[in-house]
Order: sequence, then structure tokens, then C-alpha cells
Amino acid sequence: MTLANRPPMGWNSWNYGLNDKNRADFSRVTEQTMLAQAQAMVDTGMLAAGYEYFVLDDGYQNARRDWQGRLQGHALRFRHGIPQLVSDVKALGLKFGIYSVPGTLTCAQQYDDYVAGDLGSLNHERVDAEAFAEWGVDFVKYDWCRAHLNDGLDPQIAFKKMADELQATGRDIVYSISEYGLYQPHKWAPEFTNMWRTTDDLFADWGSLMRTLDLQKELYPYSRPGAWNDPDMLQVGNGDLTSAENRAHFFLWAVLNAPLMAGNDLTRMTDEVRELLIHPGVIEIDQDWSGEQGKLTWHGGNLQVWSKRMSQEAGGGVAAVLLNRSGSAGTFNLEQTLGAYSTAKDVWSGDEISAASSVEVEPHGAILLRLS
Ligand code: GLA
Repeated sequence: MTLANRPPMGWNSWNYGLNDKNRADFSRVTEQTMLAQAQAMVDTGMLAAGYEYFVLDDGYQNARRDWQGRLQGHALRFRHGIPQLVSDVKALGLKFGIYSVPGTLTCAQQYDDYVAGDLGSLNHERVDAEAFAEWGVDFVKYDWCRAHLNDGLDPQIAFKKMADELQATGRDIVYSISEYGLYQPHKWAPEFTNMWRTTDDLFADWGSLMRTLDLQKELYPYSRPGAWNDPDMLQVGNGDLTSAENRAHFFLWAVLNAPLMAGNDLTRMTDEVRELLIHPGVIEIDQDWSGEQGKLTWHGGNLQVWSKRMSQEAGGGVAAVLLNRSGSAGTFNLEQTLGAYSTAKDVWSGDEISAASSVEVEPHGAILLRLS
């Protein structure tokens, strides 16, 4: 089977480590907090729902590499070292992901005053790939961080280099790249990566969510099993997002066949957030592949329909998000916006609704329908 045959699902430490001003707070990223999050992935049912990759993002590194030139964990926050953390996390039944960059400087070193030191993988590609493989790493996030300016690198060459080194280890490692959509990654990344960020960082507010969504419009033809458009990690349960906004965010990522990487505090999430993240009907839509990811199929003012065909194995028909971007309620006429169907079901509430009817959607909200 192809690696990342379905959009990868997991949890990533980056959004969790941001404070309420969207600045990184590295005191939140320690071996204790990471193990607590990994344990919570199991205890809350996230793993059972499909979230299998635990990904340690930027800010785990020590300023100095070890005597073999290998990256090591920050000496105070990861006292038992990264290999031990990998093995503890994997003992819970999870897979492990880790972060690095093609240049000399990570993004946290540039934007968050993270430690000065030789953290980037430039000229360490082989030693880093081999260390990751030896530790049992299953996922690598490789993040651009202005390596064109700092190191004069060419993105395609630099990203391919790590792809080759990872492949040379012989280990199955999902390769996730992040250059924020700067160099049209959809045109070349599908050849040698499993997912590529399409856009800049997504923050936990409605404006950021809508700006990010708008930039996905033309990208649907480029996604396929093993190679996914990545509109960035989930902000569900973070920041000021309301219940309705959280649902809209998650429903949209599902019809886009986006990788689902949660980034909220799993040890203290509300029941409502948990039920959303593990909702089998929504996850089924994200993980289903019938030949094309979802796309914008109707719009009128602040109302949009983003929809995708469902495979026969998943029951066929269509999955559609009715999105209301405005601050006041909006009404969708189902026949006009989606065409003629005989049945319609609200995936979140489970209610059957008349496919010929009109549906009201709350402000900054969405309804996810399965139609056949
Ligand atoms: C960039 C990426 C984020 C995160 C940080 C780490 O901003 O887009 O997802 O990895 O770097 O510093």
C-alpha cells in the first residue's frame, strides 16, 4: 500500500505550544507535557478514531548537536532524550513524527528567539535522516523557514534532497513539507512528498480560517492518495474559535481531504471539541477517496458550498459543507445550490432533512450534509 494512502491524521505540538498572542512558549513543550498529550491521544479516543501520528514540532532541539553530529533534545526540557521519548510514545501504540528544516535556521530561531545553534539539516541531511530512522521516526515535517534568503537554497532541490535521504534509510517515513505555498508546491511536491503546505500558518480565528480556505480553491486537481494538499494543522479547540466556527473548520478540512493534525490541549479539551474531532461521520468523509478532493461548487455572496463525491464503498453520493461566512444567519436552498437529491442527512446531528427544502445556517457556521 502507498504510504499516506489516506490523509495522515495525528497531533502536532506547534499550535499547542502557542500562547494567546500566537507566540511560541517553549516551556509548554517538555517531555512531561508531550507524554501527557500522547497519553491523552489514547485515553480520549483520538487514536482509536484514526489520529495515529504524534508529531514533535520545532523547539525540542538542543543548541548543540551531539558528538556524532546528531540533533538532540533540549537538555533541560527533554532530560531523557528524544530517542527515549520516541520509544515511550510508540509504546502507547502511536507513531512518531519530528521536525527539521532544509537550511541552517529553524523558524523558531528566526521568529521566536529560540536557541542559537546548528539546528538546521543543511549539510546534515544524511546524519539527520539516519538518526530519525534509527530512533523509529515515522513522519518528518521539513519546514522551509526562508532558506532561500539565509542559505541561498533552491526549494525543489533542498526538499528532494531530504526525500532521497529518508528513502535511503529504507524506513517508511511520511514526508510532510512546508513552504507555505510560496513556490507552487502542488506542481512538484506530489512527486516526492506525501503532503505539502498550501498556505501560510493558520491561526485560531475566523479571518485566518477564511483567508486560508480561499487559497485552496484552485488546488483540488493536485491531491491524490500518497500526496495531499495540506491547508495546515487544525486549530479546532484553540483560541477564540466558537463552537460553530470549530465545526465549520473541521467540516471544511474533511471535504478538502486535508491531513487532520490536531493541535489543541488534549488533556483538557471540552466534550464538545472531543466529539467533533473524533466524529466518525466527518472522519469518514476526510479519509474517503473517490478520485478528487472536495472543491468550491457553489457560491452566492457570503454563502458557499464546498463538496466532494463519495466512493461507492463509503455509500456513494455527495458530502457537502454549506458554509455561512457572514455574521448573520444565511439560508441555502438545497436544490438550487446542490442539485436534485432524494435524501439528505445532517452528519453532525444525524437528522434526516428533506433534500428539497431550505436550510438555515448560523453565522460563521456550517452544516455538513451527506446526499444521495
Ligand atoms: C512555521 C510553520 C509552523 C511551525 C513553525 C515552527 O511557522 O509553518 O507550522 O512548524 O514554523 O517554528
